[in-house]
Amino acid sequence: MKAIVIKNYGGPEALTLTEVETPSITDENQVLVKVRATSVNPLDYQVRRGDYAALFDLPITTGHDISGDIIAVGKSVKKWKPGDKVYYSPQFGGFGSYAEYHLTNEFSLSKMPEGLSYEEAAAMPLIGGTVWEMLVVRAQLKKGESILILGGAGGVGTLAIQVAKALGAFVYTTGQRVLHEKLQELGADIIFDHHHQNYIDEIQTHTHGKGVDVIIDTVGGTTLSDAPLALANYGRIVTLVDIPQPQNLINAWEKNATYHFVFTRQSRDELHHITELIEAGHIKPVVDSIYPIEEVKDAHQRMEDSKRDRPLLGKIVLSL
Ligand SMILES: NC(=O)c1ccc[n+]([C@@H]2O[C@H](COP(=O)([O-])OP(=O)(O)OC[C@H]3O[C@@H](n4cnc5c(N)ncnc54)[C@H](OP(=O)(O)O)[C@@H]3O)[C@@H](O)[C@H]2O)c1
Repeated sequence: MKAIVIKNYGGPEALTLTEVETPSITDENQVLVKVRATSVNPLDYQVRRGDYAALFDLPITTGHDISGDIIAVGKSVKKWKPGDKVYYSPQFGGFGSYAEYHLTNEFSLSKMPEGLSYEEAAAMPLIGGTVWEMLVVRAQLKKGESILILGGAGGVGTLAIQVAKALGAFVYTTGQRVLHEKLQELGADIIFDHHHQNYIDEIQTHTHGKGVDVIIDTVGGTTLSDAPLALANYGRIVTLVDIPQPQNLINAWEKNATYHFVFTRQSRDELHHITELIEAGHIKPVVDSIYPIEEVKDAHQRMEDSKRDRPLLGKIVLSL
């Protein structure tokens, strides 16, 4: 089968289209899936450039989202059969999704939501589990609360806006001016242009100094130190980003803030809630662009290029 293989860590050129052996079922709980689409996550380029080198032995195939068709099932598998359409995140650290076929455990699978194309479905698993974990499990966002989502135009941000809205929150977010109308259509109530406005000043003004109940950080940098200045008393801050530099939490202490650190791996149970929201029409995948898997280098380039001619909105998808 065709697969994208990383033989040495590096830039997008490290992704090479290679012929590898097609996997086959060796365990009674396994399922073989024909991958129809996958996506690009920052995690993929982080793996590609060697950020997780201690966890892998080269060569590797990365990729953390799959939509596809079941081809074969192990003899203990009762819930799934060949022909079923599924979507899921491959186990972190195992063989990834940038390949024609993927072998997985039946327990990692979710039924693909009705009404989605393979490309739309592949945009959801990793961010779906992540957003549910952040907003519902950790922040416990409630109807009528206010939330600030930093990085609203990204893969995580575009979904977080929709889920926060579906939960009944008042949504502030950040994004480039040219995207404001699109972010509003997703459910954002008030949007700041992070290239020209300071979100702390803006939140202070809009909330008359009270701050927001929840802040979602998909950006990193000094957010953990700064965000409490935009937070309400007893507010919650949820971050996805590993931040190597020391942070000053004095403002968090004054706000009685709670921090949550999220690193999602594989989250089928949480994806189930996302499937329900999709099928009820409350949320939809936001696909920035679709590349054939053969053009995976260009897809990575688009995600990493900070000087894109067109700003990123949602997920970059790879079709097979
Ligand atoms: N821990 C986990 O389990 C987990 C899961 C998923 C993702 N993540 C992490 O979460 C982060 C976001 O993921 P993603 O898929 O949403 O990435 P993405 O699609 O690349 O989006 C990033 C967004 O952040 C915006 N941004 C960049 N700098 C900003 C700033 N200073 N202020 C406000 N917005 C800013 C970008 O806007 P511009 O176009 O203007 O730059 C872009 O819209 C990544 O670091 C990823 O590794 C972690």
